Amino acid sequence: MALCYCYKPTLFIIVFTFFISQSFAVKISQPHHSLPFIWPLPAKFTFGNDSLSIDPSLSLTGNGASSSIVRAAFDRYRGIVFKNSYSFGFLRTGKVAYDVTKLNIVVHSKNEELQLGVDESYNLFISKATGSGKVTIEANTVFGALRGLETFSQLCSFDYSTKTVQIYKAPWSIRDKPRFPFRGLMLDTSRHYLPVDVIKQIIESMSYTKLNVLHWHMVDTQSFPLEVPTYPNLWKGSYTKWERYTIEDAYEIVNFSKMRGINVMAEVDVPGHAESWGVGYPDLWPSPTCKSPLDVSKKFTFDVLSGIMTDIRKIFPFELFHLGGDEVNTDCWTNTTQVNKWLQNHKMAANDAYQYFVLKAQNMAISKNWSPVNWEETFNTFPTKLHPRTVVHNWLGPGVCPKVVAKGLRCIFSNQGVWYLDHVDVPWDVVYNAEPLEGIHEASEQKLVLGGEVCMWAERADTSDVQQTIWPRAAAAAERLWSERQYTSGRNSNSTALSRLQYFRCLLNRRGVPAAPVTNFYARTAPDGPGSCFEQ
Ligand SMILES: *[C@@H]1O[C@H](CO)[C@@H](O)[C@H](O)[C@H]1NC(C)=O
Ligand SMILES: *[C@@H]1O[C@H](CO)[C@@H](O)[C@H](O)[C@H]1NC(C)=O
Ligand SMILES: *[C@@H]1O[C@H](CO)[C@@H](O)[C@H](O)[C@H]1NC(C)=O
Ligand SMILES: *[C@@H]1O[C@H](CO)[C@@H](O)[C@H](O)[C@H]1NC(C)=O
Repeated sequence: MALCYCYKPTLFIIVFTFFISQSFAVKISQPHHSLPFIWPLPAKFTFGNDSLSIDPSLSLTGNGASSSIVRAAFDRYRGIVFKNSYSFGFLRTGKVAYDVTKLNIVVHSKNEELQLGVDESYNLFISKATGSGKVTIEANTVFGALRGLETFSQLCSFDYSTKTVQIYKAPWSIRDKPRFPFRGLMLDTSRHYLPVDVIKQIIESMSYTKLNVLHWHMVDTQSFPLEVPTYPNLWKGSYTKWERYTIEDAYEIVNFSKMRGINVMAEVDVPGHAESWGVGYPDLWPSPTCKSPLDVSKKFTFDVLSGIMTDIRKIFPFELFHLGGDEVNTDCWTNTTQVNKWLQNHKMAANDAYQYFVLKAQNMAISKNWSPVNWEETFNTFPTKLHPRTVVHNWLGPGVCPKVVAKGLRCIFSNQGVWYLDHVDVPWDVVYNAEPLEGIHEASEQKLVLGGEVCMWAERADTSDVQQTIWPRAAAAAERLWSERQYTSGRNSNSTALSRLQYFRCLLNRRGVPAAPVTNFYARTAPDGPGSCFEQ
């Protein structure tokens, strides 16, 4: 007999103890209305009472095996699940019979293009038929299969007494799909450089929470680390010649992400936040003493912008490209003689020139078959002028996406009060309770909210602390963006989420991710005393 937790809040009260604690020496305090320890929670799931042992030489069957993306993921997850099993041959004598020896992955579509809105749904069935166990992941795309593998890996736990990997509470029947198509994390590699290996570790950990967009805020005021072949002096704006990304590095990051079902949305923020461009090309500054925003009056400015886009379009296949557009202080335009003269000749006030710059950049992106994304100031300043393909990226505060979708534009939610990870005094539950659809009631308008993104601005974060600043709070947002609203907004959702998130944070730690304790007053600080991982 299986219990069904499909959208029936009354069933949440059913007590279900020792779900995971069987597999751990420490006692985990169970919430009184336990949900399974799967993060983010699947859309629909049922489970039973059987335990199944998994063969460490688990093999992959089904047509999924013919996809290199699925095969590579299977190998990664086998490494994760059987971490403790390296000495099996030595420990075990004689033949051991395992319940599950094969993982069957069936993928319906051969199309492996990763784009916004790609089908990430999957079904995961785990059962103990007479004699042998059966595990099947069924998905429409390889990316759905990756999500199913993640869920499978979270159901596997190592039993320290038998030294075997077990799945408890079988049979499992899980039918899962994301709530939002865009579930992002932003990394800022301008305020501090992040080595490629660290970016890869972060991408890997994103896949554990089913996040699917890495927003790469590549360049900003302080540094320009990216190689641009057409304008090779641009990366003279890097902090040092060792803190740079080659074209090959960028390809590598996109490839590594795609193998994990993660899109990379590049950002080139204009016309503000671009002072570092002028280190290599001082003509981009209005004057040597007034360096930002980029000089709107020169053709050269737009030649460089177009050159950057042409060079990087080849690297970033994702249909969204972020053009920034935030925090533009036009003083250097009005108080530099030559730019001011140009404004007068074109009968433009400073704000008209801001609009002119943003729209010109949008059109360049559109001509390269990108949909432009802009920070919300562009919408707040000239909402009706933006190209209809624009995606508006909220950050300043609440209530912006309702206005954006009312105008028929798409929106990404990142309200800084709740989803800026550099705000280390924002506790996990405030992150968890931020709702992208707040104030939006029409289904047609709700569809225009692509999802949301947590932002890891890096003024005070580098390799020494970036991952513990991201985790575990980014996971709180990831469940909000993946799981059904009934689960994340219910009467008891805070208390059920806390123990599940504490469990997930320890899972991240076991996988080598330096996620900080969940309930610290300041995120990312170390524990303040001895104790179990599961209680911090
Ligand atoms: C699991 O087993 C317990 C104890 O035998 C029983 O009370 C419970 O109803 C079973 N649950 C399911 C889902 O089969
Ligand atoms: C990524 O690179 C690897 C190694 O070069 C290659 O085997 C794989 O097919 C690439 N993946 C994608 C999605 O391009
Ligand atoms: C021009 O504006 C910039 C930015 O606000 C300011 O720092 C600078 O002093 C101004 N220069 C003049 C000559 O007013
Ligand atoms: C859950 O936590 C949030 C953030 O602290 C709070 O605003 C909300 O009222 C809590 N919900 C419930 C039902 O307690």
